[in-house]
Amino acid sequence: MAPVKERSVAFAFDIDGVLVKGKKPLPGASDAIRLLQRKNVPFMFLTNGGGHTEEAHVNRVGQRLGLTFSPKQFVQSHTPYFDLVPEYGDKTILVLGGHGQQIRGVAHAYGFKNVVTSSDIMATCKHIHAFPEITRAHHDEHGSERPELRTTPISAILCWSSPRDWYLDLQVVQDLLLSSGGLLGTVSSKNGDVSLPNNGYLQDDQPKLFFCNPDFEWCTEHEQPRLAQGAFKEALGALWKTKTGTDLEYTRFGKPTEATYVYAERILREYGKSLDSSKEIGTVYMIGDNPESDIAGANAFQSQHGIEWRSILVETGVYVPGSVPKHKPYHTAKNVMEAVEWALEKGAAVLN
Ligand code: G3P
Ligand code: MG
Repeated sequence: MAPVKERSVAFAFDIDGVLVKGKKPLPGASDAIRLLQRKNVPFMFLTNGGGHTEEAHVNRVGQRLGLTFSPKQFVQSHTPYFDLVPEYGDKTILVLGGHGQQIRGVAHAYGFKNVVTSSDIMATCKHIHAFPEITRAHHDEHGSERPELRTTPISAILCWSSPRDWYLDLQVVQDLLLSSGGLLGTVSSKNGDVSLPNNGYLQDDQPKLFFCNPDFEWCTEHEQPRLAQGAFKEALGALWKTKTGTDLEYTRFGKPTEATYVYAERILREYGKSLDSSKEIGTVYMIGDNPESDIAGANAFQSQHGIEWRSILVETGVYVPGSVPKHKPYHTAKNVMEAVEWALEKGAAVLN
């Protein structure tokens, strides 16, 4: 019989509102992480941020905190998109979010070969943007005409981070979801046919739609939280409902979805083994600032490996101290250092 492994504690850190605010590190964040590094406690970052490769993003976090991390400790909003490469890697996909060529580069790095941006679509369909004057220079600089899109369908639409030019992106996505088979400039003859399921909407091989960050708001250096990718999805869904009378259909990753927590647990277990293969993780403390994302996800998650996920809410981000959080955390702490110290003490008591 295999020996029973010692159970250890581990940590999953949200980034914005826990470790940094905008570009600035939050007080005590570096020291809290250093403490875990010194004690050889496994930890990972689990963020709904994105827009970069895992390696670039974890290095950026490291620079802000003055520390070094491995991409193997890092799950960001769109990391689960790696699992879509076998299906869409050779097909044409539309990517949304970010600016310039940023997301095209990340999608290529993931293995998606045929990547189109909404700037490309603007260059291909000259009048698709009804109000182009404010953003035209950006799209002209970063978009290229793609005549093949008249005959090559777009198979999937992947949102990677918050869209910047909402009008264009809302219009382009709506056009594609109404198209025949994902071909630009077409309209499906099935739309509105009440004899068909869903009144004929999305019954004609239209592209599949993916989001990776459900956050409605997030924490920046501004005094109040700002609209995030989840808000864009809500706007799109409301427009779609008005236009078609039906609900938007999509697949979503990112906290609090189960898919993202499954992914995160896999990464954290692998990372824990690389630090000390004699130990198995018994408890993960998820430290976050957003009750609807970090706390809801950790509370709901049922591990397939017998690991207990416990949520700790900090008061340095989206959550307003003194208010009643929509999802009750296992514990509340003023900041990340207090959270880590409490969890280490609690973890030692529970596990030893
Ligand atoms: O939703 C925006 C994103 O930047 C939030 O990041 O680290 O708080 O999950 P995080
Ligand atoms: Mg956060």
